[in-house]
Amino acid sequence: MSIEIPEGLTELLQSFTVEVLRNQPGDLLEFALQYFTRLKENETRGGAFGNEHNSAARAGKAVNFIEEAMQIDSENGEEDDDDEEFVAVFFLSFLSAPVINRFVRRASVCAEAYNPDEDEEEREPRVTHPKTDEQRQRLQEACKDILLFKNLDQEQISQVLDAMFEKVVVTGEHIIDQDDDGDNFYVIERGMFDIVLKAEGTTRTVGSYDNRGSFGELALMYNTPRAATIIATSPGALWCLDRLTFRRIIVKNNAKKRKTYEAFIGTLPLLMSLEVSERMKVVDVLSTKVYNSGEQIIAQGDLADSFYIVESGHVRITMKRSKSKNNTEDEEVEIATCSRGQYFGELALVTNKPRAASAYAMDNVKCLVMGVQAFERLLGPCMDIMKRNIANYEEQLITLFGSHIAIEEPDA
Ligand code: CMP
Ligand code: CMP
Repeated sequence: MSIEIPEGLTELLQSFTVEVLRNQPGDLLEFALQYFTRLKENETRGGAFGNEHNSAARAGKAVNFIEEAMQIDSENGEEDDDDEEFVAVFFLSFLSAPVINRFVRRASVCAEAYNPDEDEEEREPRVTHPKTDEQRQRLQEACKDILLFKNLDQEQISQVLDAMFEKVVVTGEHIIDQDDDGDNFYVIERGMFDIVLKAEGTTRTVGSYDNRGSFGELALMYNTPRAATIIATSPGALWCLDRLTFRRIIVKNNAKKRKTYEAFIGTLPLLMSLEVSERMKVVDVLSTKVYNSGEQIIAQGDLADSFYIVESGHVRITMKRSKSKNNTEDEEVEIATCSRGQYFGELALVTNKPRAASAYAMDNVKCLVMGVQAFERLLGPCMDIMKRNIANYEEQLITLFGSHIAIEEPDA
């Protein structure tokens, strides 16, 4: 009996597979619902199946990926530890000859833009740049607050540190040029760097790094051209991590993070205005930090570089006020508490001011933490919700303190 395959079914399922592989959704059914709803909306608007989501190139990429992954599997003749991460491509067995009647493992190594060569990368020899004790100490110091490294285990972190190499830079040097291919990820040991964006014919400096932080992760994570130009504005020193090691360790780790946090991130009202793929990018840049009961998370008056979402436990927000008119001594007054799903630490990032309040763990607390650059890059669409909340802070303070404590208006 011959079964007729409806026209368009192959492309439809292939492009859906591509999106699943790219986004690694935890809830496949929910993802499918959103994907096909959006596709239908596009079609209604006149996009039909010729739109970007369904281009032959992308569908072809899915097939190539699947076939190549299978080839690597059979070449290796081995099963890795990650074998639970299988991608079912059973439908291909109906649609293509020869019949493919097995599962293909390769999902864990894929992030936003997966790479069929990923396992080739895994088989590359480990990169090691020998270092003196003094260099290693400086490297460890520079990397200790790098959020992308926070979720790595001991073995992964030592592989990363082994692979990193030093680069001394001079004022005016372009470390990265927008639109170039990505070669390295960079961690700043010392020096000032401008972030320059060109868009629609204009070039502007949108931010800077001041003796700490990291950059150059986007092109490596998503296989895209460099999204900005980074220029040294002082002499400095960087630690570089090559693309292959970055992808083999960090990108693979991100795929696991997506699985762990996708459902939680999907429930956060703050992020509702983000598309699924944007939320996944948020997950990619988040790291987790745990705090013991009583530990300080944020200190009022400090400079700010992170934003926090409570994953578990409770956080007390306090503000200082003078004990009495004649007394210069301050007391800390509780002004709010945050629990699972709530966020804090946005105000200083939005207003560009020091921390307006302090935050303490009330029990064992786990937070998802995002750096300021990622906050600015990814949470723009959530700004309305944040600003509405910020407007409430002032009322809250008037109620609590009975006097007016002005919260700086965030920039429009
Ligand atoms: P990448 O695209 O690989 O190279 C340029 C880097 O600039 C980018 O990764 C980010 O790490 C960093 N960057 C900082 N701020 C921005 C921004 N607003 N837009 C794009 N890239 C940014
Ligand atoms: P930020 O100023 O970055 O750090 C302290 C955080 O406490 C602040 O951001 C807010 O997220 C949070 N917060 C909660 N309630 C208030 C309030 N009434 N005034 C100021 N900050 C508050």
